[in-house]
Amino acid sequence: MAAMRTESVLILGGGLMGLALAHKLARRGSTVEVLSRRRNEAAGFVAAGMLAPHAEGLSGEQLRLGQLSLDLIPAWVNQIETDSGLCCGLRQCGIVVPFATATQRDLYPTAYLGETLDRSGLEREVPGLGPNWQAGLLFSQDGQIDNRRRLMRALETACVSLGVRFQEGVEVQEILRDGDTFRGVRMRNAEGEMHTLTSQKAVLCCGAWSAQLLPALAIVPVKGQMLSLQGPRDSLKRIVFGPGTYLVPREDGLLVVGATSEPEAGFMEGLTPFGQQQLQAGIDTLLPEASQWPPMERWWGFRPCTPDGGPLLGRSSVDGLWLATGHHRNGVLLAAITAKLLDKCLGNQPLNKTEQPLMHAFRWDRFHEQD
Ligand code: GLY
Repeated sequence: MAAMRTESVLILGGGLMGLALAHKLARRGSTVEVLSRRRNEAAGFVAAGMLAPHAEGLSGEQLRLGQLSLDLIPAWVNQIETDSGLCCGLRQCGIVVPFATATQRDLYPTAYLGETLDRSGLEREVPGLGPNWQAGLLFSQDGQIDNRRRLMRALETACVSLGVRFQEGVEVQEILRDGDTFRGVRMRNAEGEMHTLTSQKAVLCCGAWSAQLLPALAIVPVKGQMLSLQGPRDSLKRIVFGPGTYLVPREDGLLVVGATSEPEAGFMEGLTPFGQQQLQAGIDTLLPEASQWPPMERWWGFRPCTPDGGPLLGRSSVDGLWLATGHHRNGVLLAAITAKLLDKCLGNQPLNKTEQPLMHAFRWDRFHEQD
């Protein structure tokens, strides 16, 4: 049992990383304040909630980080559910990745970690799968969490019950420093008043917007458009992760369909006919019967993307300002390990032999060193 702490930490960003870390720190007795600009733009609300290190075909340290997080998730969710009294909608439902040919399947980076499927295996796992798919991989260790409707709400509730303070509608304008040392932030509150908030420790969890506060961070937005359809309950048991489109069935039959990947869009908001057509074409090919299911919602968001697709974790160039950002396509998966690692760093706890090289691998300046 770790000792209780009395430190005070400012969290910049009220998305999934900010909340996961606030929850962890508050559980250890830290005083935590979360500054959030517009909570519903957070990638944690926008994502489909896949827990998919294997289905996403990750490799190297990103796969290792994802697998570590996947292992932590049941206990992490259990803590959130206990502290909030709310269910997070965690389901280890398995993910099927379909391919046109067996050769394509066998070349997939994580093929060696999945169960090999032929056409009849695919039909067994995904009844109604479109006819183009002749081979597949089943990753039964992967799953999902109902991020949009449940996890975010449960985390907020857990944080409030542990005394975390929130400011919503707050725009951080500037990181204040004394030389290389963090001193606080200059911010505009929801009423339009400018304030200075002093603090010795903060964590930047601003996702796609991170570089607006620290321009040296190599993070750009990658827009994703999504939609949901209401299917019959239990119509699909597995997630189907096709090329360019995935189908994530919630327990009540809601089918979350994602996602376009539009780096060229920058921060351009809104749905586009082309993006929605892309999703529709993906549904038609993967699960033709779902084309008849009524659409429920359509939305978009911005993934925080780094040059190698991995997150930025740990120290920043400003002493006292830490980083938990840049999780690209895997924020929901990586929230548990991110909160654990950053909590250790902030509390000066030693990292173990597995964690140390990962923190090194995901340091913010790894791209600069290659220049
Ligand atoms: N996690 C999948 C995506 O970002 O679309």
